[in-house]
Amino acid sequence: MRTYGSRIRKAQTAPPTQSPDPASSSTPTTMPNALKRPLGETMPNRPTKRTRTAQNTKKLKSTTELKQKALTQLHFCIDQSTLHKCPLCDLCYTKGAKEDVALHKAHCSRVQKGMEWSKEEDKEGYGTSITEVKNRVKLNNGRHGRIISFPADVGGKIGTKLSSLLQTVNLCLVSPPLSKPTLQSSKAYLFLLPQDSSSKSESIVGCVIAQRIEVAMEVLEENASDPSDGPWKSPDSAREVAGIFCKPQKLPTPMGISRMFVSSKHRRQGIARALLAAAADTFIPGCPLDPLKSQIAFSQPTGDGNKVMQNWGGGRIRIYEEDC
Ligand SMILES: CC(C)(COP(=O)(O)OP(=O)(O)OC[C@H]1O[C@@H](n2cnc3c(N)ncnc32)[C@H](O)[C@@H]1OP(=O)(O)O)[C@@H](O)C(=O)NCCC(=O)NCCS
Ligand SMILES: [Zn+2]
Repeated sequence: MRTYGSRIRKAQTAPPTQSPDPASSSTPTTMPNALKRPLGETMPNRPTKRTRTAQNTKKLKSTTELKQKALTQLHFCIDQSTLHKCPLCDLCYTKGAKEDVALHKAHCSRVQKGMEWSKEEDKEGYGTSITEVKNRVKLNNGRHGRIISFPADVGGKIGTKLSSLLQTVNLCLVSPPLSKPTLQSSKAYLFLLPQDSSSKSESIVGCVIAQRIEVAMEVLEENASDPSDGPWKSPDSAREVAGIFCKPQKLPTPMGISRMFVSSKHRRQGIARALLAAAADTFIPGCPLDPLKSQIAFSQPTGDGNKVMQNWGGGRIRIYEEDC
């Protein structure tokens, strides 16, 4: 898994291939394992410390369904010819297994185009949980969208929509689900774009989860230098988080970005930047935050996340550890 192309990386930290969890030991054709990347495969643009896909996809089926499945021994000699890796969403699934193919189709469409945001969801939240943070946000291609925000632990239709959106995001990032306390201290920011059809519905094409945090670490500027020398050699002078070397001092920092995702067809249009700016402006009501003053941190940026971090934060974004 890649964090920063230019950064020094530790050895792959994927957990051992044999899962101690019996629930993950179903056959490769069941949904959780079917969506699992082939054993030993590394993913581009992924932080080193994320958990394996199988652990994340487990959540995609209810526990009841999983319990009903007969547990079988995990096979290590998976026939690679039956596994197909989609070049559009990076997901591996079993060719010919109807359930897998259908699940991949749904995931792939979300990754590329986003998810629908219906009028019902809009109606349910307006004036209560949802705030329209910004209207008529102009993208690089001239199209306009809007940004809404709501507490990340919201219930009802909006909560259901957010959790399926986060499932897709976590699967793409190979990240674990956000914990309940994290959701309780977070706000979701969604970028909505009118759909091309005449349905007047909108699509969720981008998402940022901003979290109230206490402390974060400054990134060491020397990260791109010779890995054999420098302050990161000593644990007293450097702390490594997902392949990024930071100063170990924990500095007060009010906002953390735990998840950031833009559907692939809408990237490089300024959506992530607009969402981050909206979060910085409104996360703490009446107290806009400034990335250039190091008031914002990212949890485990991917390669592309790091590029956004550099561009939007001018190198002053800090790093924090989730659930610490
Ligand atoms: C990272 C991600 C959210 C960026 O979303 P985006 O809407 O395309 O980003 P923006 O258009 O707002 O980009 C802002 C700036 O960041 C930099 N940037 C973003 N993506 C980049 C890329 N792939 N290559 C180089 N620079 C990039 C650019 O400087 C860009 O400004 P520019 O387009 O004017 O040059 C998106 O690529 C994504 O969802 N990736 C997969 C999930 C992921 O890696 N999430 C990050 C978790 S920390
Ligand atoms: Zn795909």
